[in-house]
Amino acid sequence: MSRIVLGVSGGVAAYKAALLLRAFTEAGHDVRVVPTPGALHFVGAATFEALSGNPVTTDVWSDVPEVAHVRIGQNADLVVVAPATADLLARAAAGRADDLLTATLLTAHCPVVFVPAMHTEMWLHPATQDNVATLRRRGAIVLPPAVGRLTGPDSGPGRLPEPADVAALAAVVLEGGAAALPRDLAGRKVVISAGGTREPLDPVRYLGNRSSGKQGWALARVAAARGADVVLVAANVEAPVPFGVRVVAVETAEQLRTAMLAEAGAAGGATADVVVMSAAVADFRPAGVAATKLKKGSAGEPTAVELVRNPDVLTELVGERAPGQLVVGFAAETGDADADVLTHARAKLARKGCDLLVVNDVSAGQVFGRPDNAVVVLAADGPATEVPRGSKDAVAAGIWTAVAARLTPPGRA
Ligand SMILES: Cc1cc2nc3c(=O)[nH]c(=O)nc-3n(C[C@H](O)[C@H](O)[C@H](O)COP(=O)(O)O)c2cc1C
Repeated sequence: MSRIVLGVSGGVAAYKAALLLRAFTEAGHDVRVVPTPGALHFVGAATFEALSGNPVTTDVWSDVPEVAHVRIGQNADLVVVAPATADLLARAAAGRADDLLTATLLTAHCPVVFVPAMHTEMWLHPATQDNVATLRRRGAIVLPPAVGRLTGPDSGPGRLPEPADVAALAAVVLEGGAAALPRDLAGRKVVISAGGTREPLDPVRYLGNRSSGKQGWALARVAAARGADVVLVAANVEAPVPFGVRVVAVETAEQLRTAMLAEAGAAGGATADVVVMSAAVADFRPAGVAATKLKKGSAGEPTAVELVRNPDVLTELVGERAPGQLVVGFAAETGDADADVLTHARAKLARKGCDLLVVNDVSAGQVFGRPDNAVVVLAADGPATEVPRGSKDAVAAGIWTAVAARLTPPGRA
């Protein structure tokens, strides 16, 4: 259990703070909500008190004997401000202490995550951008806002990321500290495939696999939080799109191949710096797709399914790799009588020619659909980095650290 301070400032998205609070308490954390007076115009203190089980105050004149403005910050393991208004970012950047939340920000020794939400004009204003840069320079994590529908009919960057995304990233910071979400992917285009392909047999049936897409989603979410421009080529994943991520939806291996080659190349105006093949792509597909549903007892009732090989997307991506581009493969391996997991993985790395291979030991259902994971990142030129068991987002953070260490500095590709 950790002690989390949830700061809430006065924007319409304050109602989503209640969902974030719920996610934190369900994960077992002790949460102290500190709203600004403005936030209480949007959500009543009773909601935050009832959901957190802790008292809610907005100013430094309550609980004076407890010296709340000092104690709350000093005792916190993590401060998350969601939503963070333009005004709150300005006051935090200026070091003001004119309410309990800003005073708490000055006394907190722990990591601080700001989750901005405001109209696009307010977000893009140089004053706000300067305040964000100041806060980041001082070590705070400021997440980029989601792009989408804003308060009125308009849309653009400025939307609060979904509470589930914020909760997942907060868990990464609790596990790894602020260093788990550096801005080391700022200005980089990363293309990630996720999910599992479906190869049709007839109009209603397909051959599929058990990949949930969770690890790919975590990679996308963490890369966006670390500043990357993220494209997610998603094969049959129902989960909501993480903030700051452009999704290209695909179904089959062939569609995934086309999308990945286009996005790794210059689609969207920029060549990818990193290409990650985390999707489970079917090695085989039915040789033919029946035009009508295959029926029991019909003259054409099948007795076997003939399969043909699908293209090897990872090998093709390696073959078409742009200068300086890193290609990262995934291997779901099990040990067998011939060799252990890492020996099989080293052989795959050599065969495929990619720069890094993320190795999952999938023996005994250790990965598919589970919320946690543990991997080893093998590099073509030798070193192996163990990323210990943790949430799939924490594992994603470990993978990005291994990748970022090998990126060519900008301008040197
Ligand atoms: C209906 C309404 C919605 C608002 N939504 C936002 C918002 O999403 N983001 C923002 O930065 N300010 C928003 N504001 C403006 C802030 O409430 C205002 O700047 C206030 O001073 C913020 O105070 P605080 O940061 O101390 O909570 C909104 C105001 C109103 C009346």
